[in-house]
Amino acid sequence: MGISRRDFLMRVGQAGGYSAAFLTMQTIGLFPPAAAFAEPLRVEPGIGKGVKVAILGGGIAGLVAAYEMRALGYDCTLLEARTRPGGRNWTVRGGDKVEFSDGTTQQCTWDAPNYQNVGPARLPSIHKNILGYCEKLGVELQVEVNTSRSSFLQNDAANGGKPVVQRQAINDTRGHVSELLAKCVNAGSLDADMSKDDRDRMLTFLRIYGSLDSAGKYNGGDRAGYKVLAGAGDEAGVLADPIDMHTLLDENFWQGMLFEETFDMQATMFQPVGGMDRIPFAFAKALGNVVQYDSPVTAIRKTPSGVRVEYTHKGAPKALEADYCVCALPLTVLRKIPNDFSAPYTKVMDECVYAHAYKVAWESRRFWEQDYNIYGGLEFVTTGCSPVWFPSANIFSKRGVFVSGYTDERESEFGKLLLPEKLAESRKTVERLHPGHGAEIEKPIYVNWGKVAYNEGSWIQRYGPGQERAPGITFTPSGVPAKEGKAQTRTNAGYQTLTEPDGPVYFVGDHVSHIVAWQEGAAVSSLRAVQMISDKVKAKNA
Ligand code: ALA
Repeated sequence: MGISRRDFLMRVGQAGGYSAAFLTMQTIGLFPPAAAFAEPLRVEPGIGKGVKVAILGGGIAGLVAAYEMRALGYDCTLLEARTRPGGRNWTVRGGDKVEFSDGTTQQCTWDAPNYQNVGPARLPSIHKNILGYCEKLGVELQVEVNTSRSSFLQNDAANGGKPVVQRQAINDTRGHVSELLAKCVNAGSLDADMSKDDRDRMLTFLRIYGSLDSAGKYNGGDRAGYKVLAGAGDEAGVLADPIDMHTLLDENFWQGMLFEETFDMQATMFQPVGGMDRIPFAFAKALGNVVQYDSPVTAIRKTPSGVRVEYTHKGAPKALEADYCVCALPLTVLRKIPNDFSAPYTKVMDECVYAHAYKVAWESRRFWEQDYNIYGGLEFVTTGCSPVWFPSANIFSKRGVFVSGYTDERESEFGKLLLPEKLAESRKTVERLHPGHGAEIEKPIYVNWGKVAYNEGSWIQRYGPGQERAPGITFTPSGVPAKEGKAQTRTNAGYQTLTEPDGPVYFVGDHVSHIVAWQEGAAVSSLRAVQMISDKVKAKNA
């Protein structure tokens, strides 16, 4: 007897409930899967009993590996060089010292409860694994406001250098483009491409989409904002004059407008209440003495039965023998540690290039909230330290910490400046966007991941010559869209190498995922390694 798709789904639903019907609909292609991320581990509970694992590095990748493997019964030791967990997930607060590998030291004196996440600072809603760990570990989340239409864009070469508010730039651009397209439709330029019916529907759409008048003209509109706000009585408000098309098209000026369209920058985004480091601290608490701090690795050796990891603990030499090693150290660090890795692995380590992302954070009166109605979100300049990124925590309080400058400074002019010059540039950016306010910001803290010991880079940029990471995930915090990369990550020989174990050593970290520069990438790479090791253990036990 034949059965319709609808009947089939109804029967699945009756037998297995909503989730069974939902899964079936995904399987037969009626719904896309919620997220194409790691599947749950398909591992027998207790598979790790009697198996020793050395986990190197207490960033998110190492912590996820330790958390999952310990739950599966593995005998885990996580070696972390620092005296805190988290790796790049580092939150700086008043009282903290920021030290670089070149000896530069800064003392942070911000008022509580201000802080800056100098590493990861936002969690996209699509990053289900890291969000799942927050839920499991009881890490309280709040919204991270990644976009504010009240924030500014500025280009020295456009609009006489005067900043423009994003709501106006975005909606005036939309209005002008709609007007032009309507003109083309009306002039018959698209007759060969569109039916009469579609042309009519397009004109109706453009009128609403672009806020056009009945003659198809864009004259501004309230989406673009007011120069005098409406009030009561005869205060009807005065609309802002539209910015002309030429200004809006000025090179680089419009690029900041597109930032919020980036897949993993789209609302709604989240952050832990109190600082991003709430995540690694929650993992560390759950892991107890699995995590050994102050334990930098000094050598990684292969042995007939697995690995021998040499390290120091509080300065004293130690060694750890294990069946497997989950290596979450950055490649920039790993390449300096004596090791027995095979040639393809040392080649990636030697040839890869990491970005040197930096952030400059300042404390001040919340002038962005109090004087400009900007609550969270980012602003972009085309010359200077872009972006400016306002805090989402403690909105409406008196003082806050915000970022002025966050991008890759490796091989840049900015990178060549001395620290006081960098801070002066960062301050200048604030002055460009908010004249008069450059003077009121204070207590700067600058972090350059290229100079942070045990990181020596912010995220992988290239797996070897010509092996850029995938364009789709190439992130440029400055708001300038990445140039088309030459290769997809998955076709990079270096990336491919890292996804396979080198004997007993499994490499993990965001660089072993397609979600580079995100904690989600670190998490999924570790879940994958845990699955691979467990499959191996199962095969050995069989
Ligand atoms: N994922 C990093 C960010 O959000 C690059 O800025």
